Amino acid sequence: MLVFVASLTALAAPPPAADDTLPPVNSAGGPDPLLNADEQQQWLRGRRVFTRKFRLGDGLGPLFDADSCAACHRDPVIGGAGDRSVNVVRFGFHDLANDVFTDVEGGPVVSKLAIPGRPREEVNPAANVTQERQPPSLLGLGLIDRLPDSVIEANVIEDEDQNGLITGAAARIGGRVARFGHKADIPTLRDAVADALGNYMGITLDRAASAYARSSDDDDVADPELAMADFDDLVFFVSHLAPPVPSSEGLNAALVAAGRDLFEPAGCGACHVPQLINTEDGTQLNLYSDLLLHRLLPPASADPDSIPDVTSGVALPREFRTPPLWGFRNTAPYIHDGKALTLEQIMSRHAWESLASARTVINSFTDDERAALLEFLRSL
Ligand code: HEC
Ligand code: HEC
Repeated sequence: MLVFVASLTALAAPPPAADDTLPPVNSAGGPDPLLNADEQQQWLRGRRVFTRKFRLGDGLGPLFDADSCAACHRDPVIGGAGDRSVNVVRFGFHDLANDVFTDVEGGPVVSKLAIPGRPREEVNPAANVTQERQPPSLLGLGLIDRLPDSVIEANVIEDEDQNGLITGAAARIGGRVARFGHKADIPTLRDAVADALGNYMGITLDRAASAYARSSDDDDVADPELAMADFDDLVFFVSHLAPPVPSSEGLNAALVAAGRDLFEPAGCGACHVPQLINTEDGTQLNLYSDLLLHRLLPPASADPDSIPDVTSGVALPREFRTPPLWGFRNTAPYIHDGKALTLEQIMSRHAWESLASARTVINSFTDDERAALLEFLRSL
């Protein structure tokens, strides 16, 4: 089963040029404010690894999706989100009768590209579900990484009878609340960077780098293909990208205010919790997420949207981690597969636990109220 045409877009679209000047502290794509001069140099070194185009001789592949981090995380700044042309594709087997998902060989990611002389990967015929995944923005992720588990766990709501009311499950993996990935399947930011190097670029690391590192592959370049010092710099860069700053610039301030007043009544804040506070250092994260897993997909039916997602970690097939809404104006397209562009499309993907919210917006709100809610989201 070949589910998509291979595309060279990920290689063809050049990432924005990275020079050696430090962007303004706290700007979009700039460093967070706490770094001293040495750390700013490490941040710049890390950014060079992030924008580096890996070549065959650097160990790229044998299977890969793109040749640099910045090829996928680049909108509108280095470290930002990616459009659908750089989505990655996951696959697996879903036993619909028992609603159980299992990985199949070659998974979970099907790579679009291969080095010369190697056949491109095809989805294992044993798979019956595939899903696209959009590259999220990485701005502010260090603040999320540094949150104590207890801050995230404070919003957990149990729902033993699965009645569709709002719940929220913490994804515990390896003794930590996993908080990265659309499925909250990766515990730390370091793990997420190691995972990306292996899964999307075929770059191997020393096993000690992370449990999520790929430590060997069968191209002609000796493993590990990236030195630990370079990996550490890369992780440092990503974990000190400043978080998005709220702004009403260019927006209608009255609409933003009206939209802010509609957010809670529409029930959005139950999952998109406006603020989490790091109880260890007092940092306020205006991220509009509880970082918990919620069931959003409806029960299996003829509706194509009810097809369960390819899952991983502890998330159930119909669950996703609430994505932060900070930086919303720059993170289109939306939803895990990047298929939603408008507020209506975003709401049509909010079923089950979030159905009441979606109905309020679609059925009860006036056009003006929907416009206000959208203007408010753009200000985050
Ligand atoms: C081919 C596109 C692509 C490339 C190349 C890529 N990523 Fe990603 N990245 C993604 C996608 C897609 C996701 C979401 C994965 C998921 O949850 O299914 C992601 C997720 C992440 C996350 C977790 C984000 C979050 O909010 O949970 C981090 C961190 C990350 N990538 C860093 C990197 C780094 C560093 C590199 C370079 C080593 C890189 N990525 C290369 C596509 C890419
Ligand atoms: C029950 C929890 C819950 C409620 C209530 C909820 N959401 Fe969400 N929201 C989520 C989850 C989980 C996702 C990710 C879904 C996916 O990727 O398939 C999401 C995705 C989104 C996205 C896309 C973000 C992105 O970067 O892709 C937006 C925007 C959004 N929600 C806005 C809202 C608004 C506005 C409301 C209120 C009208 C709302 N949500 C209510 C849980 C919720």
